[in-house]
Amino acid sequence: MRKLLVSLSLAMPMLLGAAELAGTWKFQPPPNPQAQANPKGPIRQPRETIYCFKVEGNQFTGTAVRNGGIADIVNGAIDGSHITFENVDGSGRKTPFKGEINGEELTIQLTNPPPPNPNARGGGRGPQGPMVLRKFSGDTEYKLPAELAHKPLPPFKPIAPNGLAKTPPMGWNSWNKFNRNVDDKGVRGMADAMVASGMRDAGYIYVNIDDTWEGQRDKDGVLQSNEKFPDMKALADYVHSKGLKLGIYSGPGPRTCAGYIASYNHEEQDARTWAAWGIDYLKYDWCSASEVYHPDELKAAYQKMALALRATKRPMIYSLCQYGWQEVGEWGAAAGGNLWRTTGDIRDSWESMSNLGFDQQIGREKFAGPGHWNDPDMLEIGNGHMTDTEYRTHMSLWSILAAPLLAGNDLRSMTDATKEILLNKEVIAVDQDKAGVQGVRVRKDAELEVWKKPLEHGGVAVGLFNRGKDTAQIGVKWSEVGVTRKNVKVRDLWAHKDLEGGDGFSGQVPSHGVVMLLVK
Ligand code: GLA
Repeated sequence: MRKLLVSLSLAMPMLLGAAELAGTWKFQPPPNPQAQANPKGPIRQPRETIYCFKVEGNQFTGTAVRNGGIADIVNGAIDGSHITFENVDGSGRKTPFKGEINGEELTIQLTNPPPPNPNARGGGRGPQGPMVLRKFSGDTEYKLPAELAHKPLPPFKPIAPNGLAKTPPMGWNSWNKFNRNVDDKGVRGMADAMVASGMRDAGYIYVNIDDTWEGQRDKDGVLQSNEKFPDMKALADYVHSKGLKLGIYSGPGPRTCAGYIASYNHEEQDARTWAAWGIDYLKYDWCSASEVYHPDELKAAYQKMALALRATKRPMIYSLCQYGWQEVGEWGAAAGGNLWRTTGDIRDSWESMSNLGFDQQIGREKFAGPGHWNDPDMLEIGNGHMTDTEYRTHMSLWSILAAPLLAGNDLRSMTDATKEILLNKEVIAVDQDKAGVQGVRVRKDAELEVWKKPLEHGGVAVGLFNRGKDTAQIGVKWSEVGVTRKNVKVRDLWAHKDLEGGDGFSGQVPSHGVVMLLVK
C-alpha cells in the first residue's frame, strides 16, 4: 500500500500536468492606449498568441499561432507542472522555452533570454519576459480560420525545366533602392534608363517590380494593381516596346512581406492575370506562408505556382525567395524554379555583401547550372553606402558565383563609376558564361581569398580578393586554379589590359578590393 502511494505521488504531478496541458491556450495582450487612440499610427496593438498542444505521455507537440496563422511548430516535454519546449520556425530555427502550468494558467518564457538592452524602447523588456496564457478550449489541433484554410496540396514531384534562364537572369529590381516607393512612372523611367545607359545592350533585360504594387481582389477574386500602377498591361507594353521584359512579385502566403495581398488560394488565377498583363518574370516570396503551411508543405507550395505559371503557356522566369530554407538548392529546380535566394536580405554595406557573397555560398555550386541558379540576392552597386572598390568586389564576386545580376540602384542618376562597374562587359561575360559553372574558393589565407570560375572552352576566371583593412599582396599559380598548360593568355578584367602570362600572378590588392583575371 505504502509502495503504491509513493509511486502514485510520483506519477501524479506528471499526469496532472499532462492532462492539463492538452488543449488551446491564449495570450491576449492588454490593449495599448496609444494604438487605440490612433489606430493608423506607428504603434500597433500587440498581437494575440495562441498555443495548441497535443500530449502523448510526457511528450507534447503543437503549434504556436500569431495573427490567426501558424507561426511555429512546437515540440516539448512535461515534468510535473513544469514544461520545456522548442518553437521551430519555418527556417528550422529553434527557440527553447520553459513554462509552468498552474490550473488554467500557463506561464512561459525563453530559456535563454537575451540580456536586457537599455537602449531599446521600453527599457529592453518585452517579448523575452514571461507570458501568461489562459486555457481557452480543449482543442488539441489548431484549425485555421475558414478564410485561411486550404485544400491539401498535391504532393511534391520533380518537374522538367521550363527552358528559361540558360544564363543567370540580368536586369533591375525596385526593392533595394526604392523599397515601397515604386510606381508606374518610376518603372518607365528605369526602362528608359536601361536603354540610354547601354545596360539593355549589355544584357540587363528584366525590369522587376518588387513588393507593394498589389491592390485588392475584385468580386471574382482577380487581383488588381494598386493606384501606383494604374494599368499594368500598358506598363508591360511600354517595357516590351523598349526591348525589355517585365517582372512582378508575389508569394505563396496570404500576405507579402510588406503586408500586401499575396497569392494564397489564388495561384492559378494570379498566374493567368500576370500572363494576360504580359509579365515575364515572377519573384515568389515566402513571408506569411508559414502561417498557413506546415514546413513540410513548403516545397509543394512553391511547386504549385510553378505549375500555375506553366499552365498559362506564357514563358515566365520563376524566382524562389524563401531565404535558403530547407536546403533549397536540393529541390529548387525540381520545384520548377529558375533561381532561388540562398540567404536573408542583402543590405548596402560591406559586412552584409561580403558575408552573403563570400561566406554563405560555399558548397552551393553543385546546385547551379543553366536554367537553375543560386541567388545571393540583388546588387547594391550604386546605392551609396559602399565604396566603388567594394562595389567592384560585389560585381566580381557575383559574376564568379554565376549569380543573377539584378541592379538595385536608381539607373536614372548613376555616377560614371557606377556605370563603369555595372557595364563592365568583360566581367559580365564571366557571369554569363554558357558553361554555367558557379565559381568556388580555392584558397583562403586569413582575409585574402582566391576564387576561380571555370569557363566554356577551357578558360578560367580568377578573383583575388582582399577582405582585410590594408592593401595586401596576393599571388596565385595557374596550376592552383586548374590551368596546367603553358603559354596562357592573361587579361585583367578591371584594368582592361593584357598581362604577361607566366605560371601565375602576384599583385597588390587594395583593402576590400579585387583583381579579376581571365586566364585562357
Ligand atoms: C523580403 C525579400 C526582399 C523583398 C521584400 C519585399 O524581405 O527578401 O527581397 O522582396 O521582402 O517586401
